[in-house]
Amino acid sequence: MKDILAELESRRDAARLGGGQRRIDSQHAKGKLTARERVDLLLDEDSFEELDMFVAHRCTDFGMEQDRPAGDGVITGWGTINGRMVYVFSQDFTVFGGSLSETHAQKICKIMDMAMQNGAPVIGINDSGGARIQEGVASLAGYAEVFQRNIMASGVVPQISLVMGPCAGGAVYSPAMTDFIFMVKDSSYMFVTGPDVVKTVTNEVVTAEELGGATTHTRKSSVADGAFENDVEALAEVRRLVDFLPLNNRQKPPVRPFFDEPGRIENSLDTLVPDNANTPYDMKELITKIADEADFYEIQEDFAKNIITGFIRLEGQSVGVVANQPTVLAGCLDIDSSRKAARFVRFCDAFEIPILTLVDVPGFLPGTSQEYGGVIKHGAKLLFAYGEATVPKVTVITRKAYGGAYDVMASKHLRGDFNYAWPTAEIAVMGAKGATEIIHRADLGDADKIAAHTANYEDRFANPFVAAERGFIDEVITPRSTRMRVSRAFASLRGKSLKNPWKKHDNIPL
Ligand code: HXC
Repeated sequence: MKDILAELESRRDAARLGGGQRRIDSQHAKGKLTARERVDLLLDEDSFEELDMFVAHRCTDFGMEQDRPAGDGVITGWGTINGRMVYVFSQDFTVFGGSLSETHAQKICKIMDMAMQNGAPVIGINDSGGARIQEGVASLAGYAEVFQRNIMASGVVPQISLVMGPCAGGAVYSPAMTDFIFMVKDSSYMFVTGPDVVKTVTNEVVTAEELGGATTHTRKSSVADGAFENDVEALAEVRRLVDFLPLNNRQKPPVRPFFDEPGRIENSLDTLVPDNANTPYDMKELITKIADEADFYEIQEDFAKNIITGFIRLEGQSVGVVANQPTVLAGCLDIDSSRKAARFVRFCDAFEIPILTLVDVPGFLPGTSQEYGGVIKHGAKLLFAYGEATVPKVTVITRKAYGGAYDVMASKHLRGDFNYAWPTAEIAVMGAKGATEIIHRADLGDADKIAAHTANYEDRFANPFVAAERGFIDEVITPRSTRMRVSRAFASLRGKSLKNPWKKHDNIPL
């Protein structure tokens, strides 16, 4: 018996060494943790239950039968994050560059199937050169099996991807189908084909960082939702995110203990909106003053900054926030901000997370670059996402809500449950100056007349009361009481039940 136990331990020790000490040292030298160290940091201490530690590949080409490391380049299993179950896979770059073989894929598929069956999120730690070249089509088939599960799991269990090394080919397409992607600055890259292939095919010379580094994907492409300084920070932040999310689409989001008075009055908010309607102010101040303990988890912080998306808690309950940001492009909606917010709204709706919308929007950004880029279709994504969402929706208009953008931003007409406005709100087809220049075109040469028309328009429309008279605004509220009003609104909606008509699926303008 003793010998058998000793053999088990020695096999386990060998598996834990992955591709060997030399490659582990090289991983550390690049500032990266190993696959196992990452799992240990992600999960609660001693909570990891590993599966398939002894799985080995079956490839016999290119002399591969001589090198069959236990585990085959990926560590899989389940554990807990603050006591709540998650499934995890972590690719081991020290074993064939974390590349995906047929058996490596089977390990990932196994935990994805279990996650679906048992209703828990999947967190994938990606550090992989993509399909294992020696296995050819078998590894491509393995990727497609993973992709199919990503698709089936979408909207059923949250899927979170950490990209923590150079990821190419299939290693980027699987994360692309998950809900969130987080990268690590200076040590992770995502590209369909690397710089060498780019040079061969297009003659373009580009570094890995420029082509697919964290800056590229969080600022330009928006493929990634966030980037962190190092592995440790990235893993800690994913733990924080998981705390906001339900385990699956049949559960409500978790309720955490809170130490903040729901009726807290914030007098400073009464002067947040400047006297001059064209002076910007920071909408994040409002978000943090509404949130429990000022805790805000921002998603896509560095992309389309004219709209803010992220999670807060109210009375301990998760709430998704979408807010126009007047400090960037005056808070206009455009292609990028519409796409960013639409995807966020759909995530919240899929996982029963109520949505708070804070509105200060002068309209859609005009111009040829927007029209040629398809702003009509991209703007429609956000409109569609809000309109189909059945979760509790509470909206607060702080200042401008002009034109189509008023309709889009979770208006009453898109089944907003509570639509509040501050007294500073201006709800109109457009700003007073633009409106006057169109309806009083004949007086354009007379500055005095135009000024009088503009003042008249402002008096009549630059306020929330015309909309409130029609019931499009449920109540005009004082800025200082916003947290209290919004908390009470969401509390009253906890039993909300709203269903869309049966359909196979909708046809959101993609
Ligand atoms: C087998 C691989 C591998 C792969 C890397 N390795 N990628 N082995 N299959 N795909 C091995 C290397 O041989 C090396 O082994 C070890 O991993 C580390 O690789 P290095 O090149 O030394 O590391 P680095 O310089 O950091 O470069 C990492 C890399 C590069 C950028 C990922 O290795 C690379 O470009 N790999 C190929 C990427 C690729 O084209 N993959 C196929 C994509 S197609 P030793 O023994 O020296 O340690 C695909 C299809 C899916 O995925 C379809 C999606 C729709």
